[in-house]
Amino acid sequence: ADSVCRDADGRLTVAGLDVEAIAREFGTPAYVIDEGDFRARARAFRDDFAAPFDTVCGGADVYYAGKAFLCTAVAKWVAEEGLSLDVCSGGELAVARRAGFPAERIGFHGNNKSLSEIRDALDYGVGRIVVDSFVEIDRVAAIAAELGLVAPVMIRVTVGVEAHTHEFIATGHEDQKFGFSLSGGQALDAARAVLAHETLDLRGLHSHIGSQIFDTGGFEMSARRLVGLHAQIANELGHHSPEIDLGGGFGMAYTSQHTPLQPGEIGEQLADIVGREFKAIGDGDLEKVPVPRVSIEPGRAIVGPSTFTLYEVGTVKPVELGDHHSRVYVSVDGGMSDNVRPALYEADYSCTLANRTSDAEPVLARVVGKHCESGDIVVQDEWLPADTQPGDLIAVPGTGAYCRALSSQYNHTPRPPVLAVRDGRAQVIVRRETIDDLLALDVGSS
Ligand code: LLP
Repeated sequence: ADSVCRDADGRLTVAGLDVEAIAREFGTPAYVIDEGDFRARARAFRDDFAAPFDTVCGGADVYYAGKAFLCTAVAKWVAEEGLSLDVCSGGELAVARRAGFPAERIGFHGNNKSLSEIRDALDYGVGRIVVDSFVEIDRVAAIAAELGLVAPVMIRVTVGVEAHTHEFIATGHEDQKFGFSLSGGQALDAARAVLAHETLDLRGLHSHIGSQIFDTGGFEMSARRLVGLHAQIANELGHHSPEIDLGGGFGMAYTSQHTPLQPGEIGEQLADIVGREFKAIGDGDLEKVPVPRVSIEPGRAIVGPSTFTLYEVGTVKPVELGDHHSRVYVSVDGGMSDNVRPALYEADYSCTLANRTSDAEPVLARVVGKHCESGDIVVQDEWLPADTQPGDLIAVPGTGAYCRALSSQYNHTPRPPVLAVRDGRAQVIVRRETIDDLLALDVGSS
């Protein structure tokens, strides 16, 4: 988190709290989330991103993407900061419900929602269900009929934009499982199918082009194509949808190589494009095709930088690489079970010695976990002081998004707690798993 810093004595602190004291009180490994940082990023999206849309379409909404990280405390922060929430499973919906998240501000995603997930979402009264296939359109319509209500739906559109990101997290290109493709008129047919159902209310179009994206080019292209389809639906099917969602995917800095876009710049550029496209369609007359309200779904850019993972060093081992080169392998008490991103996406992280400063010369280190795989890497390359030793603490920043969310109990490893830090106080918001928790699921054989 940006609020992690070294005090005058060189001690690492977060939101005014000594990191070593956190480790002593709560143990390691632990995810430490800076509540103030999270809230400030959420607010920056709500205010700075949304402001430029005021004159274009009466404002914009920000749906925090819970898939990046969700628990009831975070859902409450999101609600309090005035954001909406994107959930993509019955489990995430259950967290939102337990947090008392306002139903009308929830959007529900997924390419294969179960019947009971759809029923639960409609029953709770979510503000939008993003439909992803013709099968699902009929399914949502039928369940809405059963419940005697009209379901608000958005259509997920595959806009055919190649976002420059890792193949596994790019979603706007054609040959993948999400959405209705624009080419060939499938998305238009989806709109026709939705409009044919009396129990469905077509709220608008949605597209998500990928994740960890650093320029607005892909979003602009996607906005242009969605506006085009929106106009086509208005002209050919006579329906004016009130919303357009451009998805999430705004990148964050994991290392100094990344320069993330600021919410304000994203907002300005997208408001500009949306405004211009609608002028072009409406022939300068916005009355003809009313400009829908724009929304986005950032996850990573809000929660990612707010969190760091705290580990304790267990072993330190020099490994000769030949040519007089060597590397120190520093093993910590977690690894791919609490952060699978390096193994899964070759994601880069950095780290720092957290319990003290050292004047020892820096040596090339690789921070690794405790799991039974050589790919179990926490930080690929980092310069750490040569005297780094067992018992030292290592902090890895930028672990708020898709770390706890993608965590596992690999090797029967209980998952770390999530600690929220605010005003010099730390509080457990998700408790540490125990071996007993794991054993409780194992009911044996009779
Ligand atoms: N909206 C939709 C429909 C999404 O599918 C996603 C992410 C988001 C919003 C939020 O994207 P964000 O702003 O967080 O980039 N596990 C991968 C990321 C997968 C993203 C999946 N969808 C990772 O660790 O990089």
